[in-house]
Amino acid sequence: MTKAVRYERDGDVALIVIANPPVNALGHAVREGLWQAMDRFAQDDARIAVILGQGKLFLGGADISEFGTPPREPHLPDVCTHIERSAKPVVAAIHGPALGGGCEVALGAHYRLAMEGARLGFPEVLLGLIPGAGGSQRMPRLTGVGPALDMMPAGGSVSASEALKIGLVDRVATGDVREAGLAYARDLLDAAAEPRRTGALSRPTHDAEAFDAARALWTKKSRGEVAPLAAIDAVEVATRTDFDAGIKEERRIFLDLMQTPQRAGMIHAFFNDRKVSKLPELNGVSPREIAHVGVIGGGTMGAGIATACLLAGLPVTLVERDEAAAKKARTTITGNLDAAVKRGKLKDRDGTLAHLNTVTDYAALGDADLAIEAVFEDMGVKKDVFARLDTVLKPGAILATNTSYLDVNEIATSTSRPGDVIGLHFFSPAHVMKLLEVVVAGQTAADVTATAFALAKRLKKTAVKAGVCDGFIGNRILATYRGAADRMILDGASPWEIDAAIKAFGLPMGPFEMGDLAGLDIGFMTRQRKAATRDPRDVVPTWADAMYHEGWLGQKTGRGYYTYEGRKGTPNEAILPFIEEARGDRPQRSFTPEEIQRRYLAAMVNEAAKVVGEGIAARPLDVDVTLLYGYGFPRWRGGPMLWADHEGLPALLADIKAWAETDPYFWEPSALLEQLVAEGRSFADLNKENVQ
Ligand code: COA
Repeated sequence: MTKAVRYERDGDVALIVIANPPVNALGHAVREGLWQAMDRFAQDDARIAVILGQGKLFLGGADISEFGTPPREPHLPDVCTHIERSAKPVVAAIHGPALGGGCEVALGAHYRLAMEGARLGFPEVLLGLIPGAGGSQRMPRLTGVGPALDMMPAGGSVSASEALKIGLVDRVATGDVREAGLAYARDLLDAAAEPRRTGALSRPTHDAEAFDAARALWTKKSRGEVAPLAAIDAVEVATRTDFDAGIKEERRIFLDLMQTPQRAGMIHAFFNDRKVSKLPELNGVSPREIAHVGVIGGGTMGAGIATACLLAGLPVTLVERDEAAAKKARTTITGNLDAAVKRGKLKDRDGTLAHLNTVTDYAALGDADLAIEAVFEDMGVKKDVFARLDTVLKPGAILATNTSYLDVNEIATSTSRPGDVIGLHFFSPAHVMKLLEVVVAGQTAADVTATAFALAKRLKKTAVKAGVCDGFIGNRILATYRGAADRMILDGASPWEIDAAIKAFGLPMGPFEMGDLAGLDIGFMTRQRKAATRDPRDVVPTWADAMYHEGWLGQKTGRGYYTYEGRKGTPNEAILPFIEEARGDRPQRSFTPEEIQRRYLAAMVNEAAKVVGEGIAARPLDVDVTLLYGYGFPRWRGGPMLWADHEGLPALLADIKAWAETDPYFWEPSALLEQLVAEGRSFADLNKENVQ
């Protein structure tokens, strides 16, 4: 028996204990250990077996780090069948998560006990896969197709009590899992329970309406992602064939998906989610304590930040300039919390709101451990706020700015404690969006950075470390790929063609729809701000300035690149004369959707490579995570840097150089990209070198 699985006895009961930290993943040693344990159980005089996990959970699923490597026997479907075929009864005693393959092992057992706090689910689609060890065939036999269609395409999970309700488990218990497992096993022995094989249950009824509804929903939701629809197909197989044929077909779909770039993209994203917060310079650095947060400014952003903190259980003092503005901020936050209640994210609105204090005097921040400024995006205003914070905050408190592009080093000069100053760039709506760019300035202390990462975790956000430059990681790259879109307009593409091509690539919105949503006045103001320092070779979208002067600011005025009825837009062709004027006598051409996507993505990757080369982002993976969580880049593509590796860096660089012939300013190749191509390396190689 491997060390990863122990076989113990307690009277008549065999206990098969999985001990493979940190998450009891079903790697080769666990699969082999389970197989051998079942063999031993068959041969000894134990009358019933209980499978359980050691540590904080039952089983965290297949070992994801084995995906993409040659599979080794015993395969998981065979392990589950081996358990199911046992001549003596087998119980799964589940505490904590039982996910994917972990849930499938439980379904292979004859009886299931879930401890309160357990979660059973199938997250495979989040990795570009479907359940591959009988889950799609066994679950609908236990619960009917409805719950399986709710759970599998979404990669969802259910609690112990929900699992009991839908028939996924037989009993819910509290206390110690080993004791509860033994007690259940003894009850089953007393009742002379026999093996009860899920695979032997009759085929679930086919419900055409449920399948049609699930397919309609996921065709709309998945935007090019294949796994959710494949999961629906697998559940349907269970309704049409016998069990053994169903298992084979499920495995075929699973193995097909295993070969797809989508699977590789999702797994890249899974591991990056964890790697992004591992920074060598923070090893051994303890974060400061945060028990009270101050927020300065109660506009959309400040109210969103306050909401995020309140939802995480942090008391907030929000400072506004007068009573009316403070009242308005409270109303916005109350609305945000109401929406959180509706989405099932919050139970006690009033209790949460009781932790909000809205004031007009900075003195109320004397006790705050962290103050986050979210006032008007202007250097003078920000510096003034920071100077005032410097006078009221206690020693050791952190002074954070939510600026989205301003120089954090300069902001820090208005305080006497630049080591305590950091950028915390939230994305709007701040209580919903997952990304937090942590902008580390020249003098920011390491424990201040560590505190920012700890705060992100508490707020259930993904933090990415960024250096100081105009726009940091995300908005700097955004400005460049938006620039590529504007140049394509000048060369003959329409905004609507560009939006359609970008959506076909998998983003939820194209750049012009996004502009309409954010408000075209924002772009106008950015252009104004940059006008003085703009390189004369740069391109200005003069049509967008004209739209601003017309008062066509996007959704909020009902007109922008689209004309809106509610939130639905149709192309606003009245902007075409402005575009024609900007094009002047430039030669015009047409673009295919693929050409649009390639230019847009190439601009994104080229700028991202500059951002990495300059050390603004630590690694290519930090860019991938930023674009995924802050800019709607499709998760199943892993991120722009993974996309670039798939496309091949030499070909991408060759395209960039070809475009540079007519526009050398915009398409100047990144030195890092050139270096990687010269050395025959990829962004993935860089990630490996820089991960501790
Ligand atoms: N295979 C391999 N490694 C895994 C893993 C898996 N199924 N699940 C987690 N890990 C690793 C993580 O990468 C992390 O490694 P690190 O410490 O080197 O970064 C470590 O285990 C801890 O994971 P983490 O997610 O930080 O722990 P958690 O306690 O917050 O959450 C889980 C535990 C199981 C809920 C969570 O890890 C999870 O959802 N895992 C994926 C489950 C899954 O998709 N299984 C289906 C596979 S088909």
